[in-house]
Amino acid sequence: MAKNKQSSQLLMGPTPAALISCGNGTDNNIITLAWVGVVNSSPPMVSIAVRPNRHSYKMIRDTGEFTVNIPRDNQVHIADGCGTLSGRNVDKFAHFNLTAVMGTRKYAPMIEECPISMECKLEHTLELESHTVFIGSVVSSYVSEEVLDDEGKIDFNRFRPLGFCSGNYLKTAPLNLKLGYTLKE
Ligand SMILES: Cc1cc2nc3c(=O)[nH]c(=O)nc-3n(C[C@H](O)[C@H](O)[C@H](O)COP(=O)(O)O)c2cc1C
Repeated sequence: MAKNKQSSQLLMGPTPAALISCGNGTDNNIITLAWVGVVNSSPPMVSIAVRPNRHSYKMIRDTGEFTVNIPRDNQVHIADGCGTLSGRNVDKFAHFNLTAVMGTRKYAPMIEECPISMECKLEHTLELESHTVFIGSVVSSYVSEEVLDDEGKIDFNRFRPLGFCSGNYLKTAPLNLKLGYTLKE
């Protein structure tokens, strides 16, 4: 396959278009982030890369809390809206008719309407040139019953996480193949 050499670009994806909820005790906010990742298994840890000029930045840094919520592909308008409006001017929970639910954290709520929520405690902060990477340990995870199968496992035919890559929103569809299936062939 012929490949064209390009300038160095971030061609990593799809990643989830995750909705990160945060709060400061007075206001709650939501920021859409595509630069999210899994960075450790035990304890479970995730990274989020946030530009310091975002309204959410100070809430996360000051409270040491954030919640990673994964929307479905049919919630793309919420992801785009929460990623283009700022909490400085708009109450995004009210604007998008979303419900803030407190779990075990003091400040960062969950978004009830997202099938998956992971409450995180800030553990490490890495200031890079354009973005600050916050690494959080996942203290609690929640999954909506409607995306679970009869055995209580996530059914990706029911849960279609919203993907994002190079400025494009993507649908995700399961291949219905399990990890290690090639060993059984
Ligand atoms: C799909 C999508 C992905 C985004 N990913 C990031 C990201 O990884 N890091 C970031 O700092 N901003 C990202 N943004 C931009 C912020 O979501 C946007 O600036 C938002 O309005 C900030 O909200 P706030 O000011 O209420 O915190 C993304 C926006 C969209 C729509």
